[in-house]
Amino acid sequence: VPQRGTEISRRRLLAGGVAALGAAGVAYGYTREPEEPVFGRESLSFYGVHQAGIATPPQAHGMFVALDLRDGAGRDQLISALKIWTTDAARLTQGQPALADTEPELAAEPSALTITVGLGPGAFTAAGTPSPVEGLPPFGIDRLETQWSDGDVLLQVCADDPLAVAHAVRVLTKNVRTMASIRWVQRGFRSARGTQKSGTTMRNLMGQVDGTVNPDPAVDFDSLVWNRDGGTTMVVRRIAVELDTWDELDRGGREFAVGRKLDTGAPLTGQFEHDDADFDATDRFGIPVISPASHIARARHTHAGEQFFRRAYNYDEPAAGGATSNSGLIFAAFQRDIGTQFLPVQQRLDEHDALNEWTTPIGSAVFAIPAGVPEGGFLGQELL
Ligand code: HEM
Repeated sequence: VPQRGTEISRRRLLAGGVAALGAAGVAYGYTREPEEPVFGRESLSFYGVHQAGIATPPQAHGMFVALDLRDGAGRDQLISALKIWTTDAARLTQGQPALADTEPELAAEPSALTITVGLGPGAFTAAGTPSPVEGLPPFGIDRLETQWSDGDVLLQVCADDPLAVAHAVRVLTKNVRTMASIRWVQRGFRSARGTQKSGTTMRNLMGQVDGTVNPDPAVDFDSLVWNRDGGTTMVVRRIAVELDTWDELDRGGREFAVGRKLDTGAPLTGQFEHDDADFDATDRFGIPVISPASHIARARHTHAGEQFFRRAYNYDEPAAGGATSNSGLIFAAFQRDIGTQFLPVQQRLDEHDALNEWTTPIGSAVFAIPAGVPEGGFLGQELL
């Protein structure tokens, strides 16, 4: 009897759904706008003073690909690869197939594609030029794996459609395969485009609103992010999160670890996401409301010049070995100078951060990000 009942009600639901579809575009509890907005053709400028993909509002999907120059490849091979990437990126980001693109149809919807190129210390060694970036010192919290670390050159490929990202990565890596081979690939995501108003701060897989206190591209980038020549530097850290033990912690404990509320992202001393955190506020027992051990207290800059820009993506890969999750953050930080901006903050977090109990850095890499290019130039020309 229960089965029959279910069947009848499902039929009624279907009938109701179909009737409603004609009027309002609602069927089976699934709502579609009558005029669906379509974003695939959206393209962002490629040429300019700065490379795109840094100040660009983060797209839904990101792939970080590190490559190593092949043995014997030097300055000439590196420059050839950078010239190919410049030409390919200029076309793909505008919805045009790359030259000799074997799947040209896949280029038609760039979906706000950006391709950002970086050069690691090894690229400068190969080119016989002093490197503007050096690897980070080891940290006590690190459990770094070679499979997620270092690399001579980096491609950060972001778009609102994973198909556009996959196609761009395929073309870019294929076209330089005689000069460089893939070292690691990290695939990341944020909320899908259209699920929230643009400009909404992302959530990471721990459930936190992540990215609230961040320099404003329109205001702070000239002093904090862009070098004099228009480039910057980038730190990529793959940070695993222990969701199984995080899930065991109650909400109060989780909010205490970060210093912010889970629902709104507001500081524990405030009501709204962008309220200033009050690190001096105490409760009636005289205990700080935001713990000095919390992530935001430890990560907070000690002077204005210590700030940097975070543009992170979540990762969520198949769990292996009996675990129930293999998730974390592809933490990408952009700053003029790693040594005076990123490093002191990372060192403080290494000394102590309540969040460390659930987070483990498993990958690390640094790159110089060349300036943007004018038409006719190639990426990296001012550094080599
Ligand atoms: C703030 C999460 C790693 C630097 C925050 C916030 C969250 C968060 C939820 C508060 C909201 C916001 O302002 O964005 C995480 C997670 C991490 C991680 C889950 C690792 C899995 C790091 C690392 C650094 C860092 C490695 C730097 C070395 C910062 C900074 C802030 C911040 C500078 C802003 C602090 C402030 O001034 O209020 N993070 N974070 N975070 N985090 Fe992290």
